[in-house]
Amino acid sequence: MRKPIIAGNWKMNGSRSSIKELLEGIKAGMGDVKSAEVVVCAPAIYMADVSEQLSGSNVAWGGQNLSTEAKGAFTGETSADMLLDFKSEYVIVGHSERRTLYGETDELVAEKFEVARKAGLTPILCIGESLEERESGVTIDVCARQINAVIEKSGVKALAEGVIAYEPIWAIGTGVTATPEQAQETHAAIRKMIAEKDASVAEQVRIQYGGSMNAGNAKELLAMEDIDGGLIGGASLKAEDFLAICTAPA
Ligand code: 13P
Repeated sequence: MRKPIIAGNWKMNGSRSSIKELLEGIKAGMGDVKSAEVVVCAPAIYMADVSEQLSGSNVAWGGQNLSTEAKGAFTGETSADMLLDFKSEYVIVGHSERRTLYGETDELVAEKFEVARKAGLTPILCIGESLEERESGVTIDVCARQINAVIEKSGVKALAEGVIAYEPIWAIGTGVTATPEQAQETHAAIRKMIAEKDASVAEQVRIQYGGSMNAGNAKELLAMEDIDGGLIGGASLKAEDFLAICTAPA
């Protein structure tokens, strides 16, 4: 049985005071969360606040990106050890915003996955197609290419040490969610593509859905057989909405 994992990706949002309020709200409602693992991925600059407020709670935390380098002259970057220094357990790699706005390639993302995993962080590997790619029928080819880059670098077994987040780019921040059937179809195809290389990894690896998941649509999406959680942007910034998603898995 794969335990659902709900992760908030705050992106570049929040302030010290808004984050404090958000985390107080989340912690207060966590008693109702029975069957999901809950994570928040914060801007690096707030990691100290987040770790202080969440330590001892049942909410884990992580970064939104990391450097492939261990240390040195890499202005503006955050290393795996820096995330670990604040007890982060997770880190998002290859978010579509990193791929499209900051030119991250499949190879660089695979390197980040490897660096995170080797350091003892759980990488959340984001994959997903653009609208144009979906309309031209290459959705699964794009997802397979992005996953294969990781398999080539780290081996298929490494996938089970991370989490995959399927985030169709056309659904991110648009209010347009993939239907449960559309998402399930792609999740099943991703799992099948992994199963062709290693059936037990395919069975174990959790595949989250991301893209306009909210309090209203989470239950239906999370009820699908191959959807093992969510990576939540906008709706993770309000405690009430985020908690509604965290309590949605049956
Ligand atoms: P939204 O939930 O705001 O669509 O963002 C999804 C996302 O990109 C999470 O990583």
